[in-house]
Amino acid sequence: MNRRYFPITAVTAALCLVAVFGFLHLAPARDLPPRIVLDNAGGRVLFSHGHHAADLGLDCGDCHHDGADPEHPEACGSCHPAAFDAAYTAAHAQTFKSTRSCNRCHAAAPDPDRPTDRPDVTHVPLRADAFHAQCLGCHENMGAGPFGEKSCNACHQQRK
Ligand code: HEC
Ligand code: HEC
Ligand code: HEC
Ligand code: HEC
Ligand code: HEC
Repeated sequence: MNRRYFPITAVTAALCLVAVFGFLHLAPARDLPPRIVLDNAGGRVLFSHGHHAADLGLDCGDCHHDGADPEHPEACGSCHPAAFDAAYTAAHAQTFKSTRSCNRCHAAAPDPDRPTDRPDVTHVPLRADAFHAQCLGCHENMGAGPFGEKSCNACHQQRK
């Protein structure tokens, strides 16, 4: 190689290293969501994630039981959809951030070209049941936070 290319090659290599380091090491420092809006047929729920995650002394795994990267949990709906129908089957492999989550339902890492492993998900709660069971279940266990038949509007904003 011509010697006059050495400095520019060295600078480019250094910049690439800086970019890769920044990409790998700065991403996990992303802030946790302080509040999450969960829109649904029962009326929008404003969930104070920051209050639950930081102030109440709960563990991430009390809610994010997916066993994947605890800093980047999967959305509940990736595993608890409104229905395990053809649309879910067709799209779901692309909705996960990490393939580590696949084994939560599949016995082995699924091969997209040879889908031999078809999990039985009759024991996996659907979306609204999963949220109600987890949110209201913990409130009832801890004797704090809304639960029970008359608690609906403590979480759901009424539709106008
Ligand atoms: C009381 C239950 C609860 C606790 C405790 C909790 N989270 Fe969450 N978190 C949720 C819910 C519910 C969502 C919304 C998921 C969805 O939209 O499907 C969420 C969303 C997130 C998201 C955004 C995910 C996305 O894909 O948009 C991140 C990141 C996150 N949580 C990280 C954490 C971390 C890290 C901890 C521990 C410090 C934690 N959470 C503790 C319930 C909780
Ligand atoms: C990577 C897949 C995955 C993600 C993401 C996930 N779950 Fe689950 N969840 C499951 C599976 C599979 C089961 C069935 C029981 C089992 O295998 O543990 C389950 C069971 C449940 C149950 C029933 C009993 C139990 O174990 O607590 C509730 C409630 C629940 N999930 C709520 C949630 C909520 C709320 C979120 C988001 C904060 C969430 N799940 C995220 C896979 C997941
Ligand atoms: C919450 C449970 C669950 C998780 C987690 C899950 N799957 Fe699936 N998967 C299913 C169900 C249900 C089917 C359909 C089974 C059937 O048709 O009988 C399926 C089917 C498949 C198929 C066959 C698709 C077809 O067209 O026939 C592939 C490929 C697949 N999954 C890949 C993945 C990959 C990759 C991941 C992780 C990124 C993943 N799955 C995570 C439940 C899950
Ligand atoms: C692991 C336990 C746990 C889970 C899971 C949980 N909570 Fe709570 N939540 C609490 C406790 C404890 C309180 C009472 C403490 C307080 O109000 O400061 C509370 C209080 C609340 C309150 C009243 C105070 C406020 O923040 O406005 C609301 C609303 C609420 N939770 C919504 C939810 C929703 C929605 C979910 C599910 C996405 C959920 N919680 C899941 C433990 C939990
Ligand atoms: C602790 C908070 C909380 C309480 C209390 C609560 N819900 Fe929910 N509800 C939720 C969350 C969270 C969801 C799911 C949001 C999502 O799918 O993103 C939900 C979903 C729903 C849905 C949508 C179902 C679907 O298939 O789309 C209906 C309807 C509903 N709730 C009715 C009720 C009724 C009726 C009550 C009172 C008996 C009640 N909820 C009490 C938090 C709560």
